[in-house]
Amino acid sequence: MDNRAIGIFDSGLGGISVLREIVSLMPNENYIYYGDSLHAPYGTKSLDEIQSLSESCVEFLLSQNVKAIVIACNTATSASAKQLREKYQNLPIIGIEPALKPAVLWKEHDRVAVMATPMTLSQDKFKQLLHAYEEVSDIYCIPCPGLADYVEQGVFEGPEINEYLSNLLNPYLDKGLDAIVLGCTHYPFVENAIRQIAGDEIKIFNGSHGTALELKRRLANENLLSNRTEEGKVTIYNSSNDESKIDFSYKLLNHAI
Ligand code: DGL
Repeated sequence: MDNRAIGIFDSGLGGISVLREIVSLMPNENYIYYGDSLHAPYGTKSLDEIQSLSESCVEFLLSQNVKAIVIACNTATSASAKQLREKYQNLPIIGIEPALKPAVLWKEHDRVAVMATPMTLSQDKFKQLLHAYEEVSDIYCIPCPGLADYVEQGVFEGPEINEYLSNLLNPYLDKGLDAIVLGCTHYPFVENAIRQIAGDEIKIFNGSHGTALELKRRLANENLLSNRTEEGKVTIYNSSNDESKIDFSYKLLNHAI
């Protein structure tokens, strides 16, 4: 048993969508969340930059004495999970990837669109996932540069984001999509806006629940679960010196926005 906190990071606010799932699955754990909003977005940066920023996030969390790390960012996972696992060999590091598998298996030969950052879609990790399923479904990859920025700015709905999403999604919606995978942890916060454009028939998937389950399994296997009986505590840090980001993060966590 280990009562130290679990460390979670993202390029900014997006990882809070994963944190929510994890806290609801394991409410007795303590959590330290680090949002790197100062350097967001990661999705349009170079591989080197993302690797070095991810390492700084891990170093910050280790300075807070965490027992495991969750990379609550698809972009940072695809760009740097391998290198982080090589560097921190004794530290459990759990990443997230687009929930393509459940989306593909949901319906026979369905048409699935994956919305993610340009970096996530360009990496081998995602290409391998794609190759595993491209025979059984029609899969369309939609890079969404700029979408995470709306979330960072707290813009979750309205004419601007609707126009962005219509331009992006309409050509794919014309193909008759069955499912959309939100392959970036920022996107669940704009799911309502996506739903408005995509309609009610399309099923929307994201990888947060799978990641939470994997984290729990990993902690249990390594005997690292907490034996706390009361509710744990979530502490949020952000690399930008903007206090309102932290305040906003707690509100997102508590579904107050
Ligand atoms: N939240 C990140 C992800 O899951 C990406 C956002 C960004 O571009 O920084 O991919």
